[in-house]
Amino acid sequence: MANVSDPGALAKVHQVTTARTNSGAPIIEARGLTKRYGELFAVNGIDLTVFEGEIFGILGPNGAGKTTTLEMIEGMRKPDGGTIVVAGIDVVADPRRLRQAIGAQLQSTALFDYLSAAELIKLYCALYEVDDSPARIDELLGLVDLGEKRNAKVNELSGGQKQRLAITLALVNEPKVVFLDEPTTGLDPAARRSLWGVVQGVRDRGTTVVLTTHYMEEAEVLCDRVALFDRGRLIACDTTQALIRGLNMSATIKATCEAGSLDQAELAALPAVTGATVSAIGSQSELSLTTTSAQQSMIGLLELAARRSVTLGDLRSSQANLEDVFLSLTGRSYASDTEPATDAPASSRRRRRRGEAA
Ligand SMILES: Nc1ncnc2c1ncn2[C@@H]1O[C@H](COP(=O)(O)OP(=O)(O)O)[C@@H](O)[C@H]1O
Ligand SMILES: [Mg+2]
Repeated sequence: MANVSDPGALAKVHQVTTARTNSGAPIIEARGLTKRYGELFAVNGIDLTVFEGEIFGILGPNGAGKTTTLEMIEGMRKPDGGTIVVAGIDVVADPRRLRQAIGAQLQSTALFDYLSAAELIKLYCALYEVDDSPARIDELLGLVDLGEKRNAKVNELSGGQKQRLAITLALVNEPKVVFLDEPTTGLDPAARRSLWGVVQGVRDRGTTVVLTTHYMEEAEVLCDRVALFDRGRLIACDTTQALIRGLNMSATIKATCEAGSLDQAELAALPAVTGATVSAIGSQSELSLTTTSAQQSMIGLLELAARRSVTLGDLRSSQANLEDVFLSLTGRSYASDTEPATDAPASSRRRRRRGEAA
């Protein structure tokens, strides 16, 4: 749960998250899911199981295959290979039957601007032939905290409010599973957090939520389990805590010092350190240590600096997060994932990035 700038918001979100009961039976089972566009494997042999009552996150950089996977599970794109069962329905054979059982969030840009929030919900209820009484419409508005926007036109709503409306529209048929494709992309941090609360509210009412995101922090804070995608492949799937536990580190320590005053080998030999890099930035060196114990390594580093009369600047420690999981599995940093791939195998790139010898 690192990287959250507002601890108060995190505490609130965490409270709701931990109130969740244990996951139920599998509600989605996808095996060997594959989609090709020409030579490109957009989705390449993915196996996924989603359990009833969880918020399941599909996380990955742009182009990783998140939307393609989601739309195949929703029965909106036909896979080239593999099987998908959702709520007992064979999605490939029977996509129409699936529509009744699921809810899919529309792009908020596809909403009718000139209708009010309440009118739009009523229209959807009519389309699905479900209760469209004022009481039911109020309930649906309340679910996403839009009670006060009942009579506001869609084009008068903020980006976050439109997203919340799109989510409640996906709930009119009381689906067992709801699918949200990047529900918070483009929202400011406050609107994003408020949407997290809405998504948790949906799950707490018993609806399973499958969402995609490219925000690491969102997956860490919001999702019960995370499927980490990279270039059409599933590279890891578990709770954030378990994924981080699988790493050979629990934290990263960073600091700056005068160039050349500490070297990589002696940093790597400090207590609990599992990897060390030293990179030159102008007249300074930036040190980065991965460690299984931030406290032990920090003490070791301070003692070393004191012995050598080296002044450390900007000393900081951060807990391991999904960013580190991605780096350890792909050899690439998540943030800079748009950089072109090199020909070197992932293992040697990983060593290079961590400053280790091959
Ligand atoms: N209809 C399509 N035709 C050709 N290529 C596509 C199509 N849809 C997606 N792709 C490609 O498949 C890959 C995965 O896309 P997508 O599932 O949209 O990724 P994500 O949602 O993770 O950003 C990308 O390289 C994308 O360009
Ligand atoms: Mg997408």
